[in-house]
Amino acid sequence: MTKALIIRDAINEDIDSIYEVVSLAFQEEQNVRDGEIIQARLVKELIQDNDDVVNLVAEDSVIVGHVFVSPVTLEPDAGLSCGQVSPLSVLPEFQSEGIGSALMQAVIEKSKNEGLDALFLLGDPNYYKKFGFVASAVKSAYGPSEYFQELELKANCLESLNVHVHLAPAFIRLEL
Ligand SMILES: CC(C)(COP(=O)(O)OP(=O)(O)OC[C@H]1O[C@@H](n2cnc3c(N)ncnc32)[C@H](O)[C@@H]1OP(=O)(O)O)[C@@H](O)C(=O)NCCC(=O)NCCS
Repeated sequence: MTKALIIRDAINEDIDSIYEVVSLAFQEEQNVRDGEIIQARLVKELIQDNDDVVNLVAEDSVIVGHVFVSPVTLEPDAGLSCGQVSPLSVLPEFQSEGIGSALMQAVIEKSKNEGLDALFLLGDPNYYKKFGFVASAVKSAYGPSEYFQELELKANCLESLNVHVHLAPAFIRLEL
């Protein structure tokens, strides 16, 4: 990672760069829908819906990475405040330099500061276990899956909970 990397809250003026970074990071054919990268569309819609709990960019002269947390609801209500980390993106030419890890550490810290009790995400356990994520026993649209993971920011808050997690409406609309 270059020494110049800064991780900061996104501002309104960053939206085009964020869209570009997410589009390039997820630029596989399977992610194209109606000529658009679906994960980039997701970020746009989450912002339009005011479903941005944490929205961070990694900047090295230009924006090279981005991570987003949207709110989730637990049913029945367990009195917890939780978020879904998605998407996490680093420009292809800047990958494997530790930027994704720096974004993950920052998003965990920021989520704690925002008072979140737990984070969820869908992703490769081999990547996310190093940040403390473990397979979640909480029910979700993704079913029981080692890919649906959780991180308790407040110790044991998800333990023994029999709840279903619902993601923000943009995920449902886009069938993600
Ligand atoms: C996943 C991603 C954000 C990681 O960013 P990064 O800046 O490359 O991450 P880091 O430098 O901290 O870590 C890179 C290491 O993680 C590994 N890694 C990356 N994606 C991985 C995955 N899905 N599963 C396991 N390991 C993975 C890389 O092989 C690399 O290992 P190396 O250092 O031995 O080469 C980036 O690869 C990306 O934007 N990918 C495309 C979008 C995506 O898949 N996002 C995640 C969706 S869940």
